[in-house]
Amino acid sequence: MKHLKTLFLVAMLIMALAISVTAKEAKKVKNRFLSERVVVTCDKYPNVCDIKGSVGSDCCMKKCVNLSRDGSNCGKCGKKCGYGKICCEGKCVNPKSNKKHCGKCGNKCNAESSCVFGMCSYA
Ligand SMILES: *[C@@H]1O[C@H](CO)[C@@H](O)[C@H](O)[C@H]1NC(C)=O
Repeated sequence: MKHLKTLFLVAMLIMALAISVTAKEAKKVKNRFLSERVVVTCDKYPNVCDIKGSVGSDCCMKKCVNLSRDGSNCGKCGKKCGYGKICCEGKCVNPKSNKKHCGKCGNKCNAESSCVFGMCSYA
């Protein structure tokens, strides 16, 4: 009986060791994957952009982007936001006057106020 317990403990130890080694290996592979983005490009491997730490899950010109926020790829690849505009939820908006994105993305002015020079103000 005592023998069995020891055996069990040893088995657990080996398992724990195996798991930690696997995790380390996975991390190494992931880092390599990220640093070799030039080689493993998202046009060929779309999953590359789903990796944690990626800029976004969308792929434009072989690069991972976030179409929701990227001022150079706003809403779709290659769509640049004009001067003074920012990309919020995939749309180019003027944060100085946009009521839904006043000053910054997602800063919504309430019904009675308006966005003036990037600040919600009551007229
Ligand atoms: C893209 O940007 C939006 C808005 O900031 C954010 O909610 C979303 O998590 C981002 N996606 C990725 C994959 O980072």
